[in-house]
Amino acid sequence: MKGRVEVIIGAQWGDEGKGRVVDCLGSRVDVFARYQGGSNAGHTVIVDGKKYVFHLLPSGMLYPGKLCVIGNGVVVDPEQLLAEIKDLQSKGMDRARLIVSGSAHVVMPYHKIIDKAQEAFRGKGKKIGTTGRGIGPAYVDKFSRCGIRIEDLFHPDVLRDKLEFNLEDKNRILTRLYNLEPLPFDEIHTQAMNWGKELAAYAGDVSRILYEALESGKTVLFEGAQGTLLDIDHGTYPYVTSSSPVAAGGCVGLGLGPNAVDRVIGVVKAYSTRVGEGPFPTEDSGELGNRLREKGGEYGATTGRPRRCGWLDMVGLKYAVRVNGMTSIALTKLDVLSGLDEISVCVAYDFEGGRLDHFTGNAGVLACATPVFERFEGWKDDIAACRNFDDLPSAAKDYVRYIEKETGVPVQLIGVGPGRDETIVRGL
Ligand code: IMP
Repeated sequence: MKGRVEVIIGAQWGDEGKGRVVDCLGSRVDVFARYQGGSNAGHTVIVDGKKYVFHLLPSGMLYPGKLCVIGNGVVVDPEQLLAEIKDLQSKGMDRARLIVSGSAHVVMPYHKIIDKAQEAFRGKGKKIGTTGRGIGPAYVDKFSRCGIRIEDLFHPDVLRDKLEFNLEDKNRILTRLYNLEPLPFDEIHTQAMNWGKELAAYAGDVSRILYEALESGKTVLFEGAQGTLLDIDHGTYPYVTSSSPVAAGGCVGLGLGPNAVDRVIGVVKAYSTRVGEGPFPTEDSGELGNRLREKGGEYGATTGRPRRCGWLDMVGLKYAVRVNGMTSIALTKLDVLSGLDEISVCVAYDFEGGRLDHFTGNAGVLACATPVFERFEGWKDDIAACRNFDDLPSAAKDYVRYIEKETGVPVQLIGVGPGRDETIVRGL
């Protein structure tokens, strides 16, 4: 094909700063495509000093004249999507064209209620710490083949039939399992019909549109949400999200073959964070963790929850390189490490008297794994003004070179501050 596909994925537990990297690449991209997840994501984009937080819309929505698509692999909460579209319209910022796949599944009101009820009923140590956005229950319906898709919203009879079937089942679950009130059919049916009327203008065949864009030489960016270690297959199951954030998920969730992909850019935060439950070997619950959280502004864009923080986990990063076929690294928030005397990186785990050199998605093993750290000299200087690799203090350069040596992947972008231009670009 004449065009190019680049994939941006999170290499850790999400919140690596993918929106920021997409923003840096934006000018050379023609089509921005979301392929999985739903409104559990939170991309922050800052344009002309104004901050925009998207949960469902691809980050490219702020670029005039671009095409943004939401693929079949995404679960779409129409209420959230329409609110994001209206917000952009009211600010005169609806500059891109949006297409939503007719085969994307709809997050219905009962999915959000069941998500929260399941969490509330899970006993101590069993909670996932979900965002409560109905993601898991919506994917459950997709895979148990009773889900409602965007295209169903345009056909009143099909919608009625599917909704009746679903509500009968969901109301039994809500009332008998969770002691909640049943949901009224008429109200939800009317709401879903209204969503259909508003979304009809955006529906399309995303796979075909992308294929044709590539045939005509366009550059398409697959925008991953969440991160590798939250992947349903490759993450720390069951403490994962219900979709496939890994790069291959892009092909499934957008309807293109794997040979379409030219480059996989892994976004790596210079340290680690995790939000929600689940094992996190390098977590620091003390002074360092607090320092990283405050300096890095580590609070969830979707839920506002404080993120758990700790040192970079090289074992997890090498795994992310492997399962994504990563070809470039974008290293974000290097500036957050400035001012520390010493920086540590986890290079292996101690487990049951032995040494683990390879990551495992087995949450039980990870929960008992003790990180083995290698220590590096820190740097004192503020690096926000650095625009070339050679401007960085030598200890910061060593840290970046170490990441490249261990992963075998070039670090082609380095974030040195929160501003759009506070970036060192090395060929990305
Ligand atoms: P869910 O995706 O809402 O089902 O949540 C499952 C797990 O994924 C929880 O630990 C969430 O905190 C986490 N999660 C979901 N979306 C994000 C994200 O965008 N960033 C970071 N963590 C996320």
